[in-house]
Amino acid sequence: MEIRRLRTGVEGIDRLIQGGIPEGFFVAVTGEPGCGKTIFSIHFIYQGVIDGDKSIYVTTEESRESIIRQASQFSMDFEKAIDEGKLIVIDALMGREDKWSLQSLDIEALVGKIIEAKKELGYGRARVAIDSISAFWLDKPAMARRYSYYVKKVLSKWNFTTIAVSQYAISTSEAFGWGIEHIADGIIRFRRAVRSGELKRFIIIEKMRQTNHDRYLHEIDVVDGRGLTIIGPVQRRKEDLSLPSEVVRKILEAKKKAEEEIP
Ligand SMILES: Nc1ncnc2c1ncn2[C@@H]1O[C@H](COP(=O)(O)OP(=O)(O)OP(=O)(O)O)[C@@H](O)[C@H]1O
Ligand SMILES: [Mg+2]
Repeated sequence: MEIRRLRTGVEGIDRLIQGGIPEGFFVAVTGEPGCGKTIFSIHFIYQGVIDGDKSIYVTTEESRESIIRQASQFSMDFEKAIDEGKLIVIDALMGREDKWSLQSLDIEALVGKIIEAKKELGYGRARVAIDSISAFWLDKPAMARRYSYYVKKVLSKWNFTTIAVSQYAISTSEAFGWGIEHIADGIIRFRRAVRSGELKRFIIIEKMRQTNHDRYLHEIDVVDGRGLTIIGPVQRRKEDLSLPSEVVRKILEAKKKAEEEIP
């Protein structure tokens, strides 16, 4: 059986997952602040607009305007797509009274609003980015698994392919896991590190069911005017493998001493 895949809007990422995210999947996108989760979500949704999918973006951390502005910096015209009835941005931050705002971070209200938006956009394949889903269980992390299961179940019935941005806090990762890792059909993890004084960003596909996905960490970049790009797989550096000579000397010395002490 052939699997239909949805392009993510970042060609280099599609290549890591055999062409895209399998239709109907519920994929977690995770990682530290500022490492590209929102920008990736914007690409995913804009690709939906291009490919004729009913496309919905839910924003909890930034306003609708902020998302539109960020997209425009990478040459993606969200405003036009909204005007043409191809895209709806649900704002869950500002608590406004307009039709496409959420007044509170309630998981049932979220699902209801997404379905309402799908009805407005019309019949056909749909995709949604929820940025972030963890905002809906901030004050009750133990509910993460139940809530995400509920969202996955309902949205799959409505023909959605979903990416759900999920931050993981120490409190949740230690006590409960960050909640959606087992329920998710895929996990795309963004990472960041400062190397030689420079901020670097990376991506790794940790899981993608039914997919022979790439298993290497890849360096990525955010380029003004273009957005996310893949630089290439991270080479294992010599420094990562070998210890400083002084450390090696001390280890050998300790070993020798220990051997001498054996009666
Ligand atoms: N126009 C631009 N040109 C180049 N880099 C940009 C541009 N706009 C944003 N960035 C980079 O992207 C980063 C933001 O990425 P993004 O919003 O995707 O992070 P995030 O993973 O969603 O973080 P958070 O969890 O805090 O929401 C900025 O910190 C900046 O480094
Ligand atoms: Mg973000």
